[in-house]
Amino acid sequence: MQRLILLLSLVVLAVGCQSEKKEKKQITIGTKKEKASPYDTGKAIFNGKGKCYTCHKIDKKSIGPGVIDIMKVYKDQKGDLIAFLKQEAEPIVDPETYAVMKTNFAIIKTFTEEELNAVEVYMNEVANGKTE
Ligand code: HEC
Repeated sequence: MQRLILLLSLVVLAVGCQSEKKEKKQITIGTKKEKASPYDTGKAIFNGKGKCYTCHKIDKKSIGPGVIDIMKVYKDQKGDLIAFLKQEAEPIVDPETYAVMKTNFAIIKTFTEEELNAVEVYMNEVANGKTE
């Protein structure tokens, strides 16, 4: 009987260890998939689903003002870029062509708070010379 108990507890122990191993394995898979940085997320949105790139180049005006120019105005005037993107603040860069920018708010409205922040981080860093 004692032997049986010993054997049983060994089995329990073995199973326990195994499931622990499994858990650990899952955890390492989880940490391997690193979360994208706000810069990378912002860049992906700017050049992807946000369609910002279709009207905004970095260093020159196209349909809309260049990102460097936009960020300079926001820095100088201490503008709130996220508030602008949420349509809670008036345009301060080129109000005369605001109607064109407005056409893109249908897309911007779908962004989460985190995505809006990421776009701001990207525009800021790219205006400060980051190129990757
Ligand atoms: C259809 C063209 C178009 C698209 C697409 C577009 N923009 Fe614009 N954007 C403009 C124009 C034109 C202006 C200048 C008018 C203005 O200042 O609002 C502008 C201005 C801005 C400004 C300055 C606002 C201000 O205070 O005057 C920001 C910030 C901006 N865009 C961000 C973005 C972001 C981020 C995206 C993508 C999610 C985007 N834009 C997509 C045309 C566009």
